[in-house]
Amino acid sequence: MKALELTLKYLTDLTQSGESVVFSTSLGEEDQLLTWIIAEYKLPIEIITLDTGRLFPESYDLLSRTASKYKLKIKAFYPNQKAIEGYVNNEGINAFYNSIELRKTCCGIRKIEPLKRALSGHQHWITGLRAAQSENRQDMEVQGYDEFFQINKVNPILHWTDDEMRQVLDDQNIPVNPLHKKGFISIGCAPCTRAIEPGEHPRAGRWWWEESKKECGLHQTNTNESVSKTA
Ligand code: ADX
Ligand code: SF4
Repeated sequence: MKALELTLKYLTDLTQSGESVVFSTSLGEEDQLLTWIIAEYKLPIEIITLDTGRLFPESYDLLSRTASKYKLKIKAFYPNQKAIEGYVNNEGINAFYNSIELRKTCCGIRKIEPLKRALSGHQHWITGLRAAQSENRQDMEVQGYDEFFQINKVNPILHWTDDEMRQVLDDQNIPVNPLHKKGFISIGCAPCTRAIEPGEHPRAGRWWWEESKKECGLHQTNTNESVSKTA
């Protein structure tokens, strides 16, 4: 399959550069596909995940099953203890519902700061972003420098279609979150994700009470210089 061959070649070349490559997985379908590629082709890529402490039980179960099935280490990063205790005890356990500012503060503590630590020491950061996921993601590039995290950001399956992704997931029997079958398309933290109705935007279930752009801040600087659009 063309998309898979191109992505595999792209990742193989990247890892042969001798520089350190890290992949962040949220356990979404895109990330499960990338995890399978890394395991199947034994690519020297560290895999990390951000355990926000508010994930669905199904996501924790998938994390455990995936690590066992592929005999992989998926390193979890956690929020800074003082920061999260301060936030929860001052603002409330579900303060993210109260304002966009408090929601972004929560994402900052639970995702952005831990991701900064997870990426440090690496030269390349791989994500499972796809252009088909949302309008915001359509002008992203396969590769570019992320000024915020100060790292080369690589989105190797950016141009994969839904069908291309689904075919590999099915053909290879790759484990996915059972919540997808219940209408959860894009899955993040449990209190901030709901199932969508047929015909709704795939990301409508994320921060469902907001009119925002439905991004948590991990992917704010993506339209940097284009190096390649071939993957
Ligand atoms: S988000 O910005 O809305 O949360 P999304 O869930 O679409 O992002 O995932 C896009 C990419 O961001 C994933 O492929 C993954 O690389 C990264 N990502 C998002 N959430 C996490 C997480 N909890 N742990 C690790 N990586 C994550
Ligand atoms: Fe907090 Fe919700 Fe962001 Fe998770 S998605 S870090 S619970 S605001």
